[in-house]
Amino acid sequence: MDRGFLFGDGVYEVIPVYQGKIFHLEAHLQRLQKSLDSIQITNPYPVEKWRSIFNELVESSPKSDQSLYLQITRGADAQRKHGFKALTPTVYVESNTLITKSKADLEKGFCALSQTDIRWHRCDIKSISLLPNVLYAQLAKESQVEEIILCRDNQITEGATSNVFMLKNDTLLTHPAGKDILAGITRSLVIKSAKACGLNVQEIAFSLDDAQQADGLWISSSTREVMPITQLDNLPIADGQISPYWHDVYEHYQQLKHD
Ligand code: PDD
Repeated sequence: MDRGFLFGDGVYEVIPVYQGKIFHLEAHLQRLQKSLDSIQITNPYPVEKWRSIFNELVESSPKSDQSLYLQITRGADAQRKHGFKALTPTVYVESNTLITKSKADLEKGFCALSQTDIRWHRCDIKSISLLPNVLYAQLAKESQVEEIILCRDNQITEGATSNVFMLKNDTLLTHPAGKDILAGITRSLVIKSAKACGLNVQEIAFSLDDAQQADGLWISSSTREVMPITQLDNLPIADGQISPYWHDVYEHYQQLKHD
């Protein structure tokens, strides 16, 4: 009778762990809090309790890099009713081995396809209701591409499981945070790295046509880090070449992981 199972009524986080150290736990817990507040679930634990749960999990797992998965649902009720009352939230955490791609593999570039963004208008909530994202991910798998890039009103919002950046000259553009995207923790770190590498960053939306004419197209997420897309809808981006700026930002991001 868990409402996560019955209604997809819950939220989640995915948090990378590098060399036994949880990467930006505070930012993930802050986003978790925002997601919980948005759907009126009381956070079952204070920050310190979360920290100790995760530390215990990390220590009991193999020494490799890890990706922590945390899900909180509204809990179980006696009857299946859409409306809810206060319940005891269900908490689930797990750790998986995180294998990030090598720089040599990333430099080969990746393909993406565009699709209409059919999701609801609260993409800022990291909801476990992921049916559109699941179907896009399956389309990517069947089409043998890395990601599906989503467009709403002729503007790229984000990827099915990532944020999207476009490089034009020395400016990096990405859709502004708000209800149309999930503001990735990696997105904010890529913005930080890009600024440190001398790029001018603008959080403004851009179109599919802009992306086709770009000097670079990147996606970011906790499990993919920052990845270059060199082909969109079977057309090469920037002649399939990867900008030197990607190398700089990639290296800067790797440095952040070890700081
Ligand atoms: N997803 N946008 C969407 C729709 C996502 O699903 C994700 C990540 C991101 C990037 O967020 P972050 O940088 O905080 O990982 C943006 C995770 C990895 C997942 O669902 O497994």
